[in-house]
Amino acid sequence: MTSEEVRRIAINTGGGDAPGLNAVIRAAVLSADRRGWEVLGIHHGYAGLLDTSKIETLDLKSVRGITHLGGTILGTANKGNPFEMPMKLPEGSMTEMDRSDEVVENFKRLGLDALIAIGGDGSMRIAQKFQDKGIPIVGVPKTIDNDLAGTVATFGFDTATSVATDAVGRLHSTAEAHERVFTVEVMGRYAGWIALSCAIAGGADVALIPEIPFDIDIVCRKIMSREARGRRFSIVVVAEGARPAGGDMVTQGPKELGREVLLGGIGVQVARQIEEGTGKETRNLVLGHLQRGGTPTARDRVLALGFGAAAVRVIAAGESGVMVALDPPDVKTVPLSVATSRLKTVPLESDIVCTARDIGLCLGDE
Ligand code: F6P
Repeated sequence: MTSEEVRRIAINTGGGDAPGLNAVIRAAVLSADRRGWEVLGIHHGYAGLLDTSKIETLDLKSVRGITHLGGTILGTANKGNPFEMPMKLPEGSMTEMDRSDEVVENFKRLGLDALIAIGGDGSMRIAQKFQDKGIPIVGVPKTIDNDLAGTVATFGFDTATSVATDAVGRLHSTAEAHERVFTVEVMGRYAGWIALSCAIAGGADVALIPEIPFDIDIVCRKIMSREARGRRFSIVVVAEGARPAGGDMVTQGPKELGREVLLGGIGVQVARQIEEGTGKETRNLVLGHLQRGGTPTARDRVLALGFGAAAVRVIAAGESGVMVALDPPDVKTVPLSVATSRLKTVPLESDIVCTARDIGLCLGDE
């Protein structure tokens, strides 16, 4: 399909929100408008193509003044994969149902030429399946976790890292005043990008990440060696996916049907073990969704606006089945299959890990 043949496109935001979603929407709508295309906003991820009652036309007025706003004007959901929709059976038990054909029918009925799907790895996997069913899709990589393959960065990560860095920085004074240890549990799911980055930038003493299983004795030794040098406080950043060598990740309960298992709880466990191992008073702080809230950083805004505009250029060029991706200094495309082929975790030999070790940040393994 050429640029002249495109009449109407749609856009949705799926998975956990990330600062910058509204900037992508604004750039996509402005770029589409310049080409004379109509844009429909689909609410609450792919679920909005099942119940189409809330679909709205996005015009220049709808996206005025939203670049700096967190959240998403379209709402989002991290339940609601149309290929595995949770459904209650008459006897009360839950099952999953494939309703993807209804989405395809509605897409055609609405006269749509392409869909811009903004999301993380889960949304890109769904995008790939709909592309295979005939819906032309261009993905936009969003997640604070920065774990999508094929792109150097996802938008949202810089903001989350800045919030976490600020928190680690602020903890220094109270930790020092009380001669305490603080554990700070940060998000990131199975990747340690946020934890490692905020620990380095915020001057923490220990960073525990999923990629490097930790030994609590090594962590305690690091704290006591600081103590011996008169540094009677320590800050330990703990990724929510961190786990002890030979142990498991801590979850907030069993996996619910239709959504990923929720990680969380390792921070307080590490705090208790540090208290036992060092005798030092230890407090735990869980940063949680603060990392996703509020205004995106300038870097995330520029990245998100770039992704939104690029997605429209990709559609205009007749391409689909791809995700826009940062390949500095440009935004390029990668096949959706590349984006979903693996999770981009922190490579053990990478520069960021070497930097951490060189500046004396303990990673719990040596
Ligand atoms: O993927 C983004 C993320 O914030 C993860 O870092 C975290 O594990 C998860 O989402 C939390 O999900 P929810 O918003 O459902 O609590």
